[in-house]
Amino acid sequence: MSDIARRRFDCLVIGAGGGGLRAALQLAQAEAHVAVVSKVFPTRSHTVAAQGGINAALGNVLPDNWHWHMYDTVKGGDYLADQDAVEYMCRTAPRLIIELEHQGMPFTRLENGRIYQRAFGGQSQNFGGAQAARTCPAADRTGHALLHTLYQQNLRARTHFFDEFFVLDLILDEEGYCLGALAFEIETGEPLLIEARTTLVATGGACRIYRTSTNAHINTGDGMAMALRAGIPLQDMEFVQFHPTGLSGIGVLISEGVRGEGGYLVNSEGERFMERYAPKAKDLASRDVVSRSIYTELKEGRGCGPSRDHVLLKVDHLSEEVIAKRLPGIRELSIRFAGVDPAKGPVPVAPTAHYTMGGIPTNRFGQVVAPVHTGPEEPVPGLYAAGECACVSVHGANRLGGNSLLDIVVFGRAAGNHMLEYLKEHRYHRPTPNHALDRVLARLARWDRKGEGESVDQLRSDMQRTMEQHCGVFRTQAIMEEGVAKLEQLSERLQRVVLRDHSRIFNTARVEAFELENLMEVALATVYSAAARKESRGAHSHVEFPQRDDRQWLKHTLYGREKRRIDYKPVRTQPLSVDTFPPKERVY
Ligand code: FUM
Repeated sequence: MSDIARRRFDCLVIGAGGGGLRAALQLAQAEAHVAVVSKVFPTRSHTVAAQGGINAALGNVLPDNWHWHMYDTVKGGDYLADQDAVEYMCRTAPRLIIELEHQGMPFTRLENGRIYQRAFGGQSQNFGGAQAARTCPAADRTGHALLHTLYQQNLRARTHFFDEFFVLDLILDEEGYCLGALAFEIETGEPLLIEARTTLVATGGACRIYRTSTNAHINTGDGMAMALRAGIPLQDMEFVQFHPTGLSGIGVLISEGVRGEGGYLVNSEGERFMERYAPKAKDLASRDVVSRSIYTELKEGRGCGPSRDHVLLKVDHLSEEVIAKRLPGIRELSIRFAGVDPAKGPVPVAPTAHYTMGGIPTNRFGQVVAPVHTGPEEPVPGLYAAGECACVSVHGANRLGGNSLLDIVVFGRAAGNHMLEYLKEHRYHRPTPNHALDRVLARLARWDRKGEGESVDQLRSDMQRTMEQHCGVFRTQAIMEEGVAKLEQLSERLQRVVLRDHSRIFNTARVEAFELENLMEVALATVYSAAARKESRGAHSHVEFPQRDDRQWLKHTLYGREKRRIDYKPVRTQPLSVDTFPPKERVY
């Protein structure tokens, strides 16, 4: 038995973004002994970067109800979302926003004191009618406000935090129970086994598999890769959201809230081109539609700048007061990173990798579900996932803006509640088998290799370029298959990576090597899943198969690491209490 340090908790939460912290709060308030492990200080988790707001049908600005929200979400996801989970999310939303308000979240207010709500893409009143206003903001720093609120509530509830610990892998026993995880402290490199009766993976998304991304550098798909290594397939990984308005060339997010407040896109001819692609919703069509429209403009030569590689986001017709009150962060980012003050001139933008719709398959209670010996899927005992690393699936093939912050609070809380039930039925810790621990410790030791070989930085950059070229907004079969072959070669090169010049290596270099392993797992899952889907749906635009094909492809993809196996499973089209929304033509 290894003599590494061990700690025991009822619950282990991996990741301190909104999903992890909302679950931890539910657990700690119920007096469970809960540990949150985070590779960064908790309030630096990527939730902090969310800008525009969180959706809930409060009806504070325009009439609204949860059923319209549900319709928009199912349509936005191009009918791939599981409708039981979507109903649960949309029905629960208003209550959880009020709860956040009571926990101290500083939402932007209307004159009458109610929470302000702005228009966002894909929102409608009355099942596809006039534009709705459903997104509750804290100016354009909503994620920052949310994350700090949840962190402070967790401190009050006495959640235990392991800050700046990197989790290597989950520990499962032979019967498939999850028993916790092995981490190491980044500063010292010392391993720590955290044994827990329940484990929640809440490690966020993986859009750092792309060169240009709105994501923080920490978004390396750690939890998704851990699930793959534990034999759990990933679901719907071909669906990657490209946000229409990243700052050109660098990808910094410029919130959809800008268009919600009245900003609009123009091409090099000064034309409001979205009127041609989405006559009704225009700039507030769903993100996949707007990103494809921008790419088409660029391809047809109507891009701006010397390289004709971006379009312009016009905001300068909005009043100084609106910009100062509702978009202060956007103004700061545009000035700092593009040298443009949006109050005075248009902002150069282009589609940028933003969100992973796929992830670790879960049910609406947050339980990770996986096929047992390739038979029907069942919950993995003791293992949960929530937030962007999970696929529950409420976003289907394309997420609506403002639904990701909602997803993390709704399903973080739901997972916390189910974990409490599980604890009642599983009262004792199961022993950690030596072989499971030794396998993970061997991964840790591998990165003590010295000598000549590949560099982490070079390989990561080659992988990101490959993903950009072979799995972008528009995809052909040949391009994706070439991407598969190139990624397999990169994956082989990964075996030859060494950490250079050991005398000057910080432990962060070792973390970056593990992150690269995780990124590579996720990139492979993405490109294999994409090459297998022969239709266009939501964010997956297959040039040779431009139509959605519900007869053959209304199903979720499952990618397994062993032999790069692709399987499919049915979409749950039956909601909990209302009629299903059957697939129909999706127009905006
Ligand atoms: O554009 C935005 O503010 C992003 C919001 C989201 O991805 O939900």
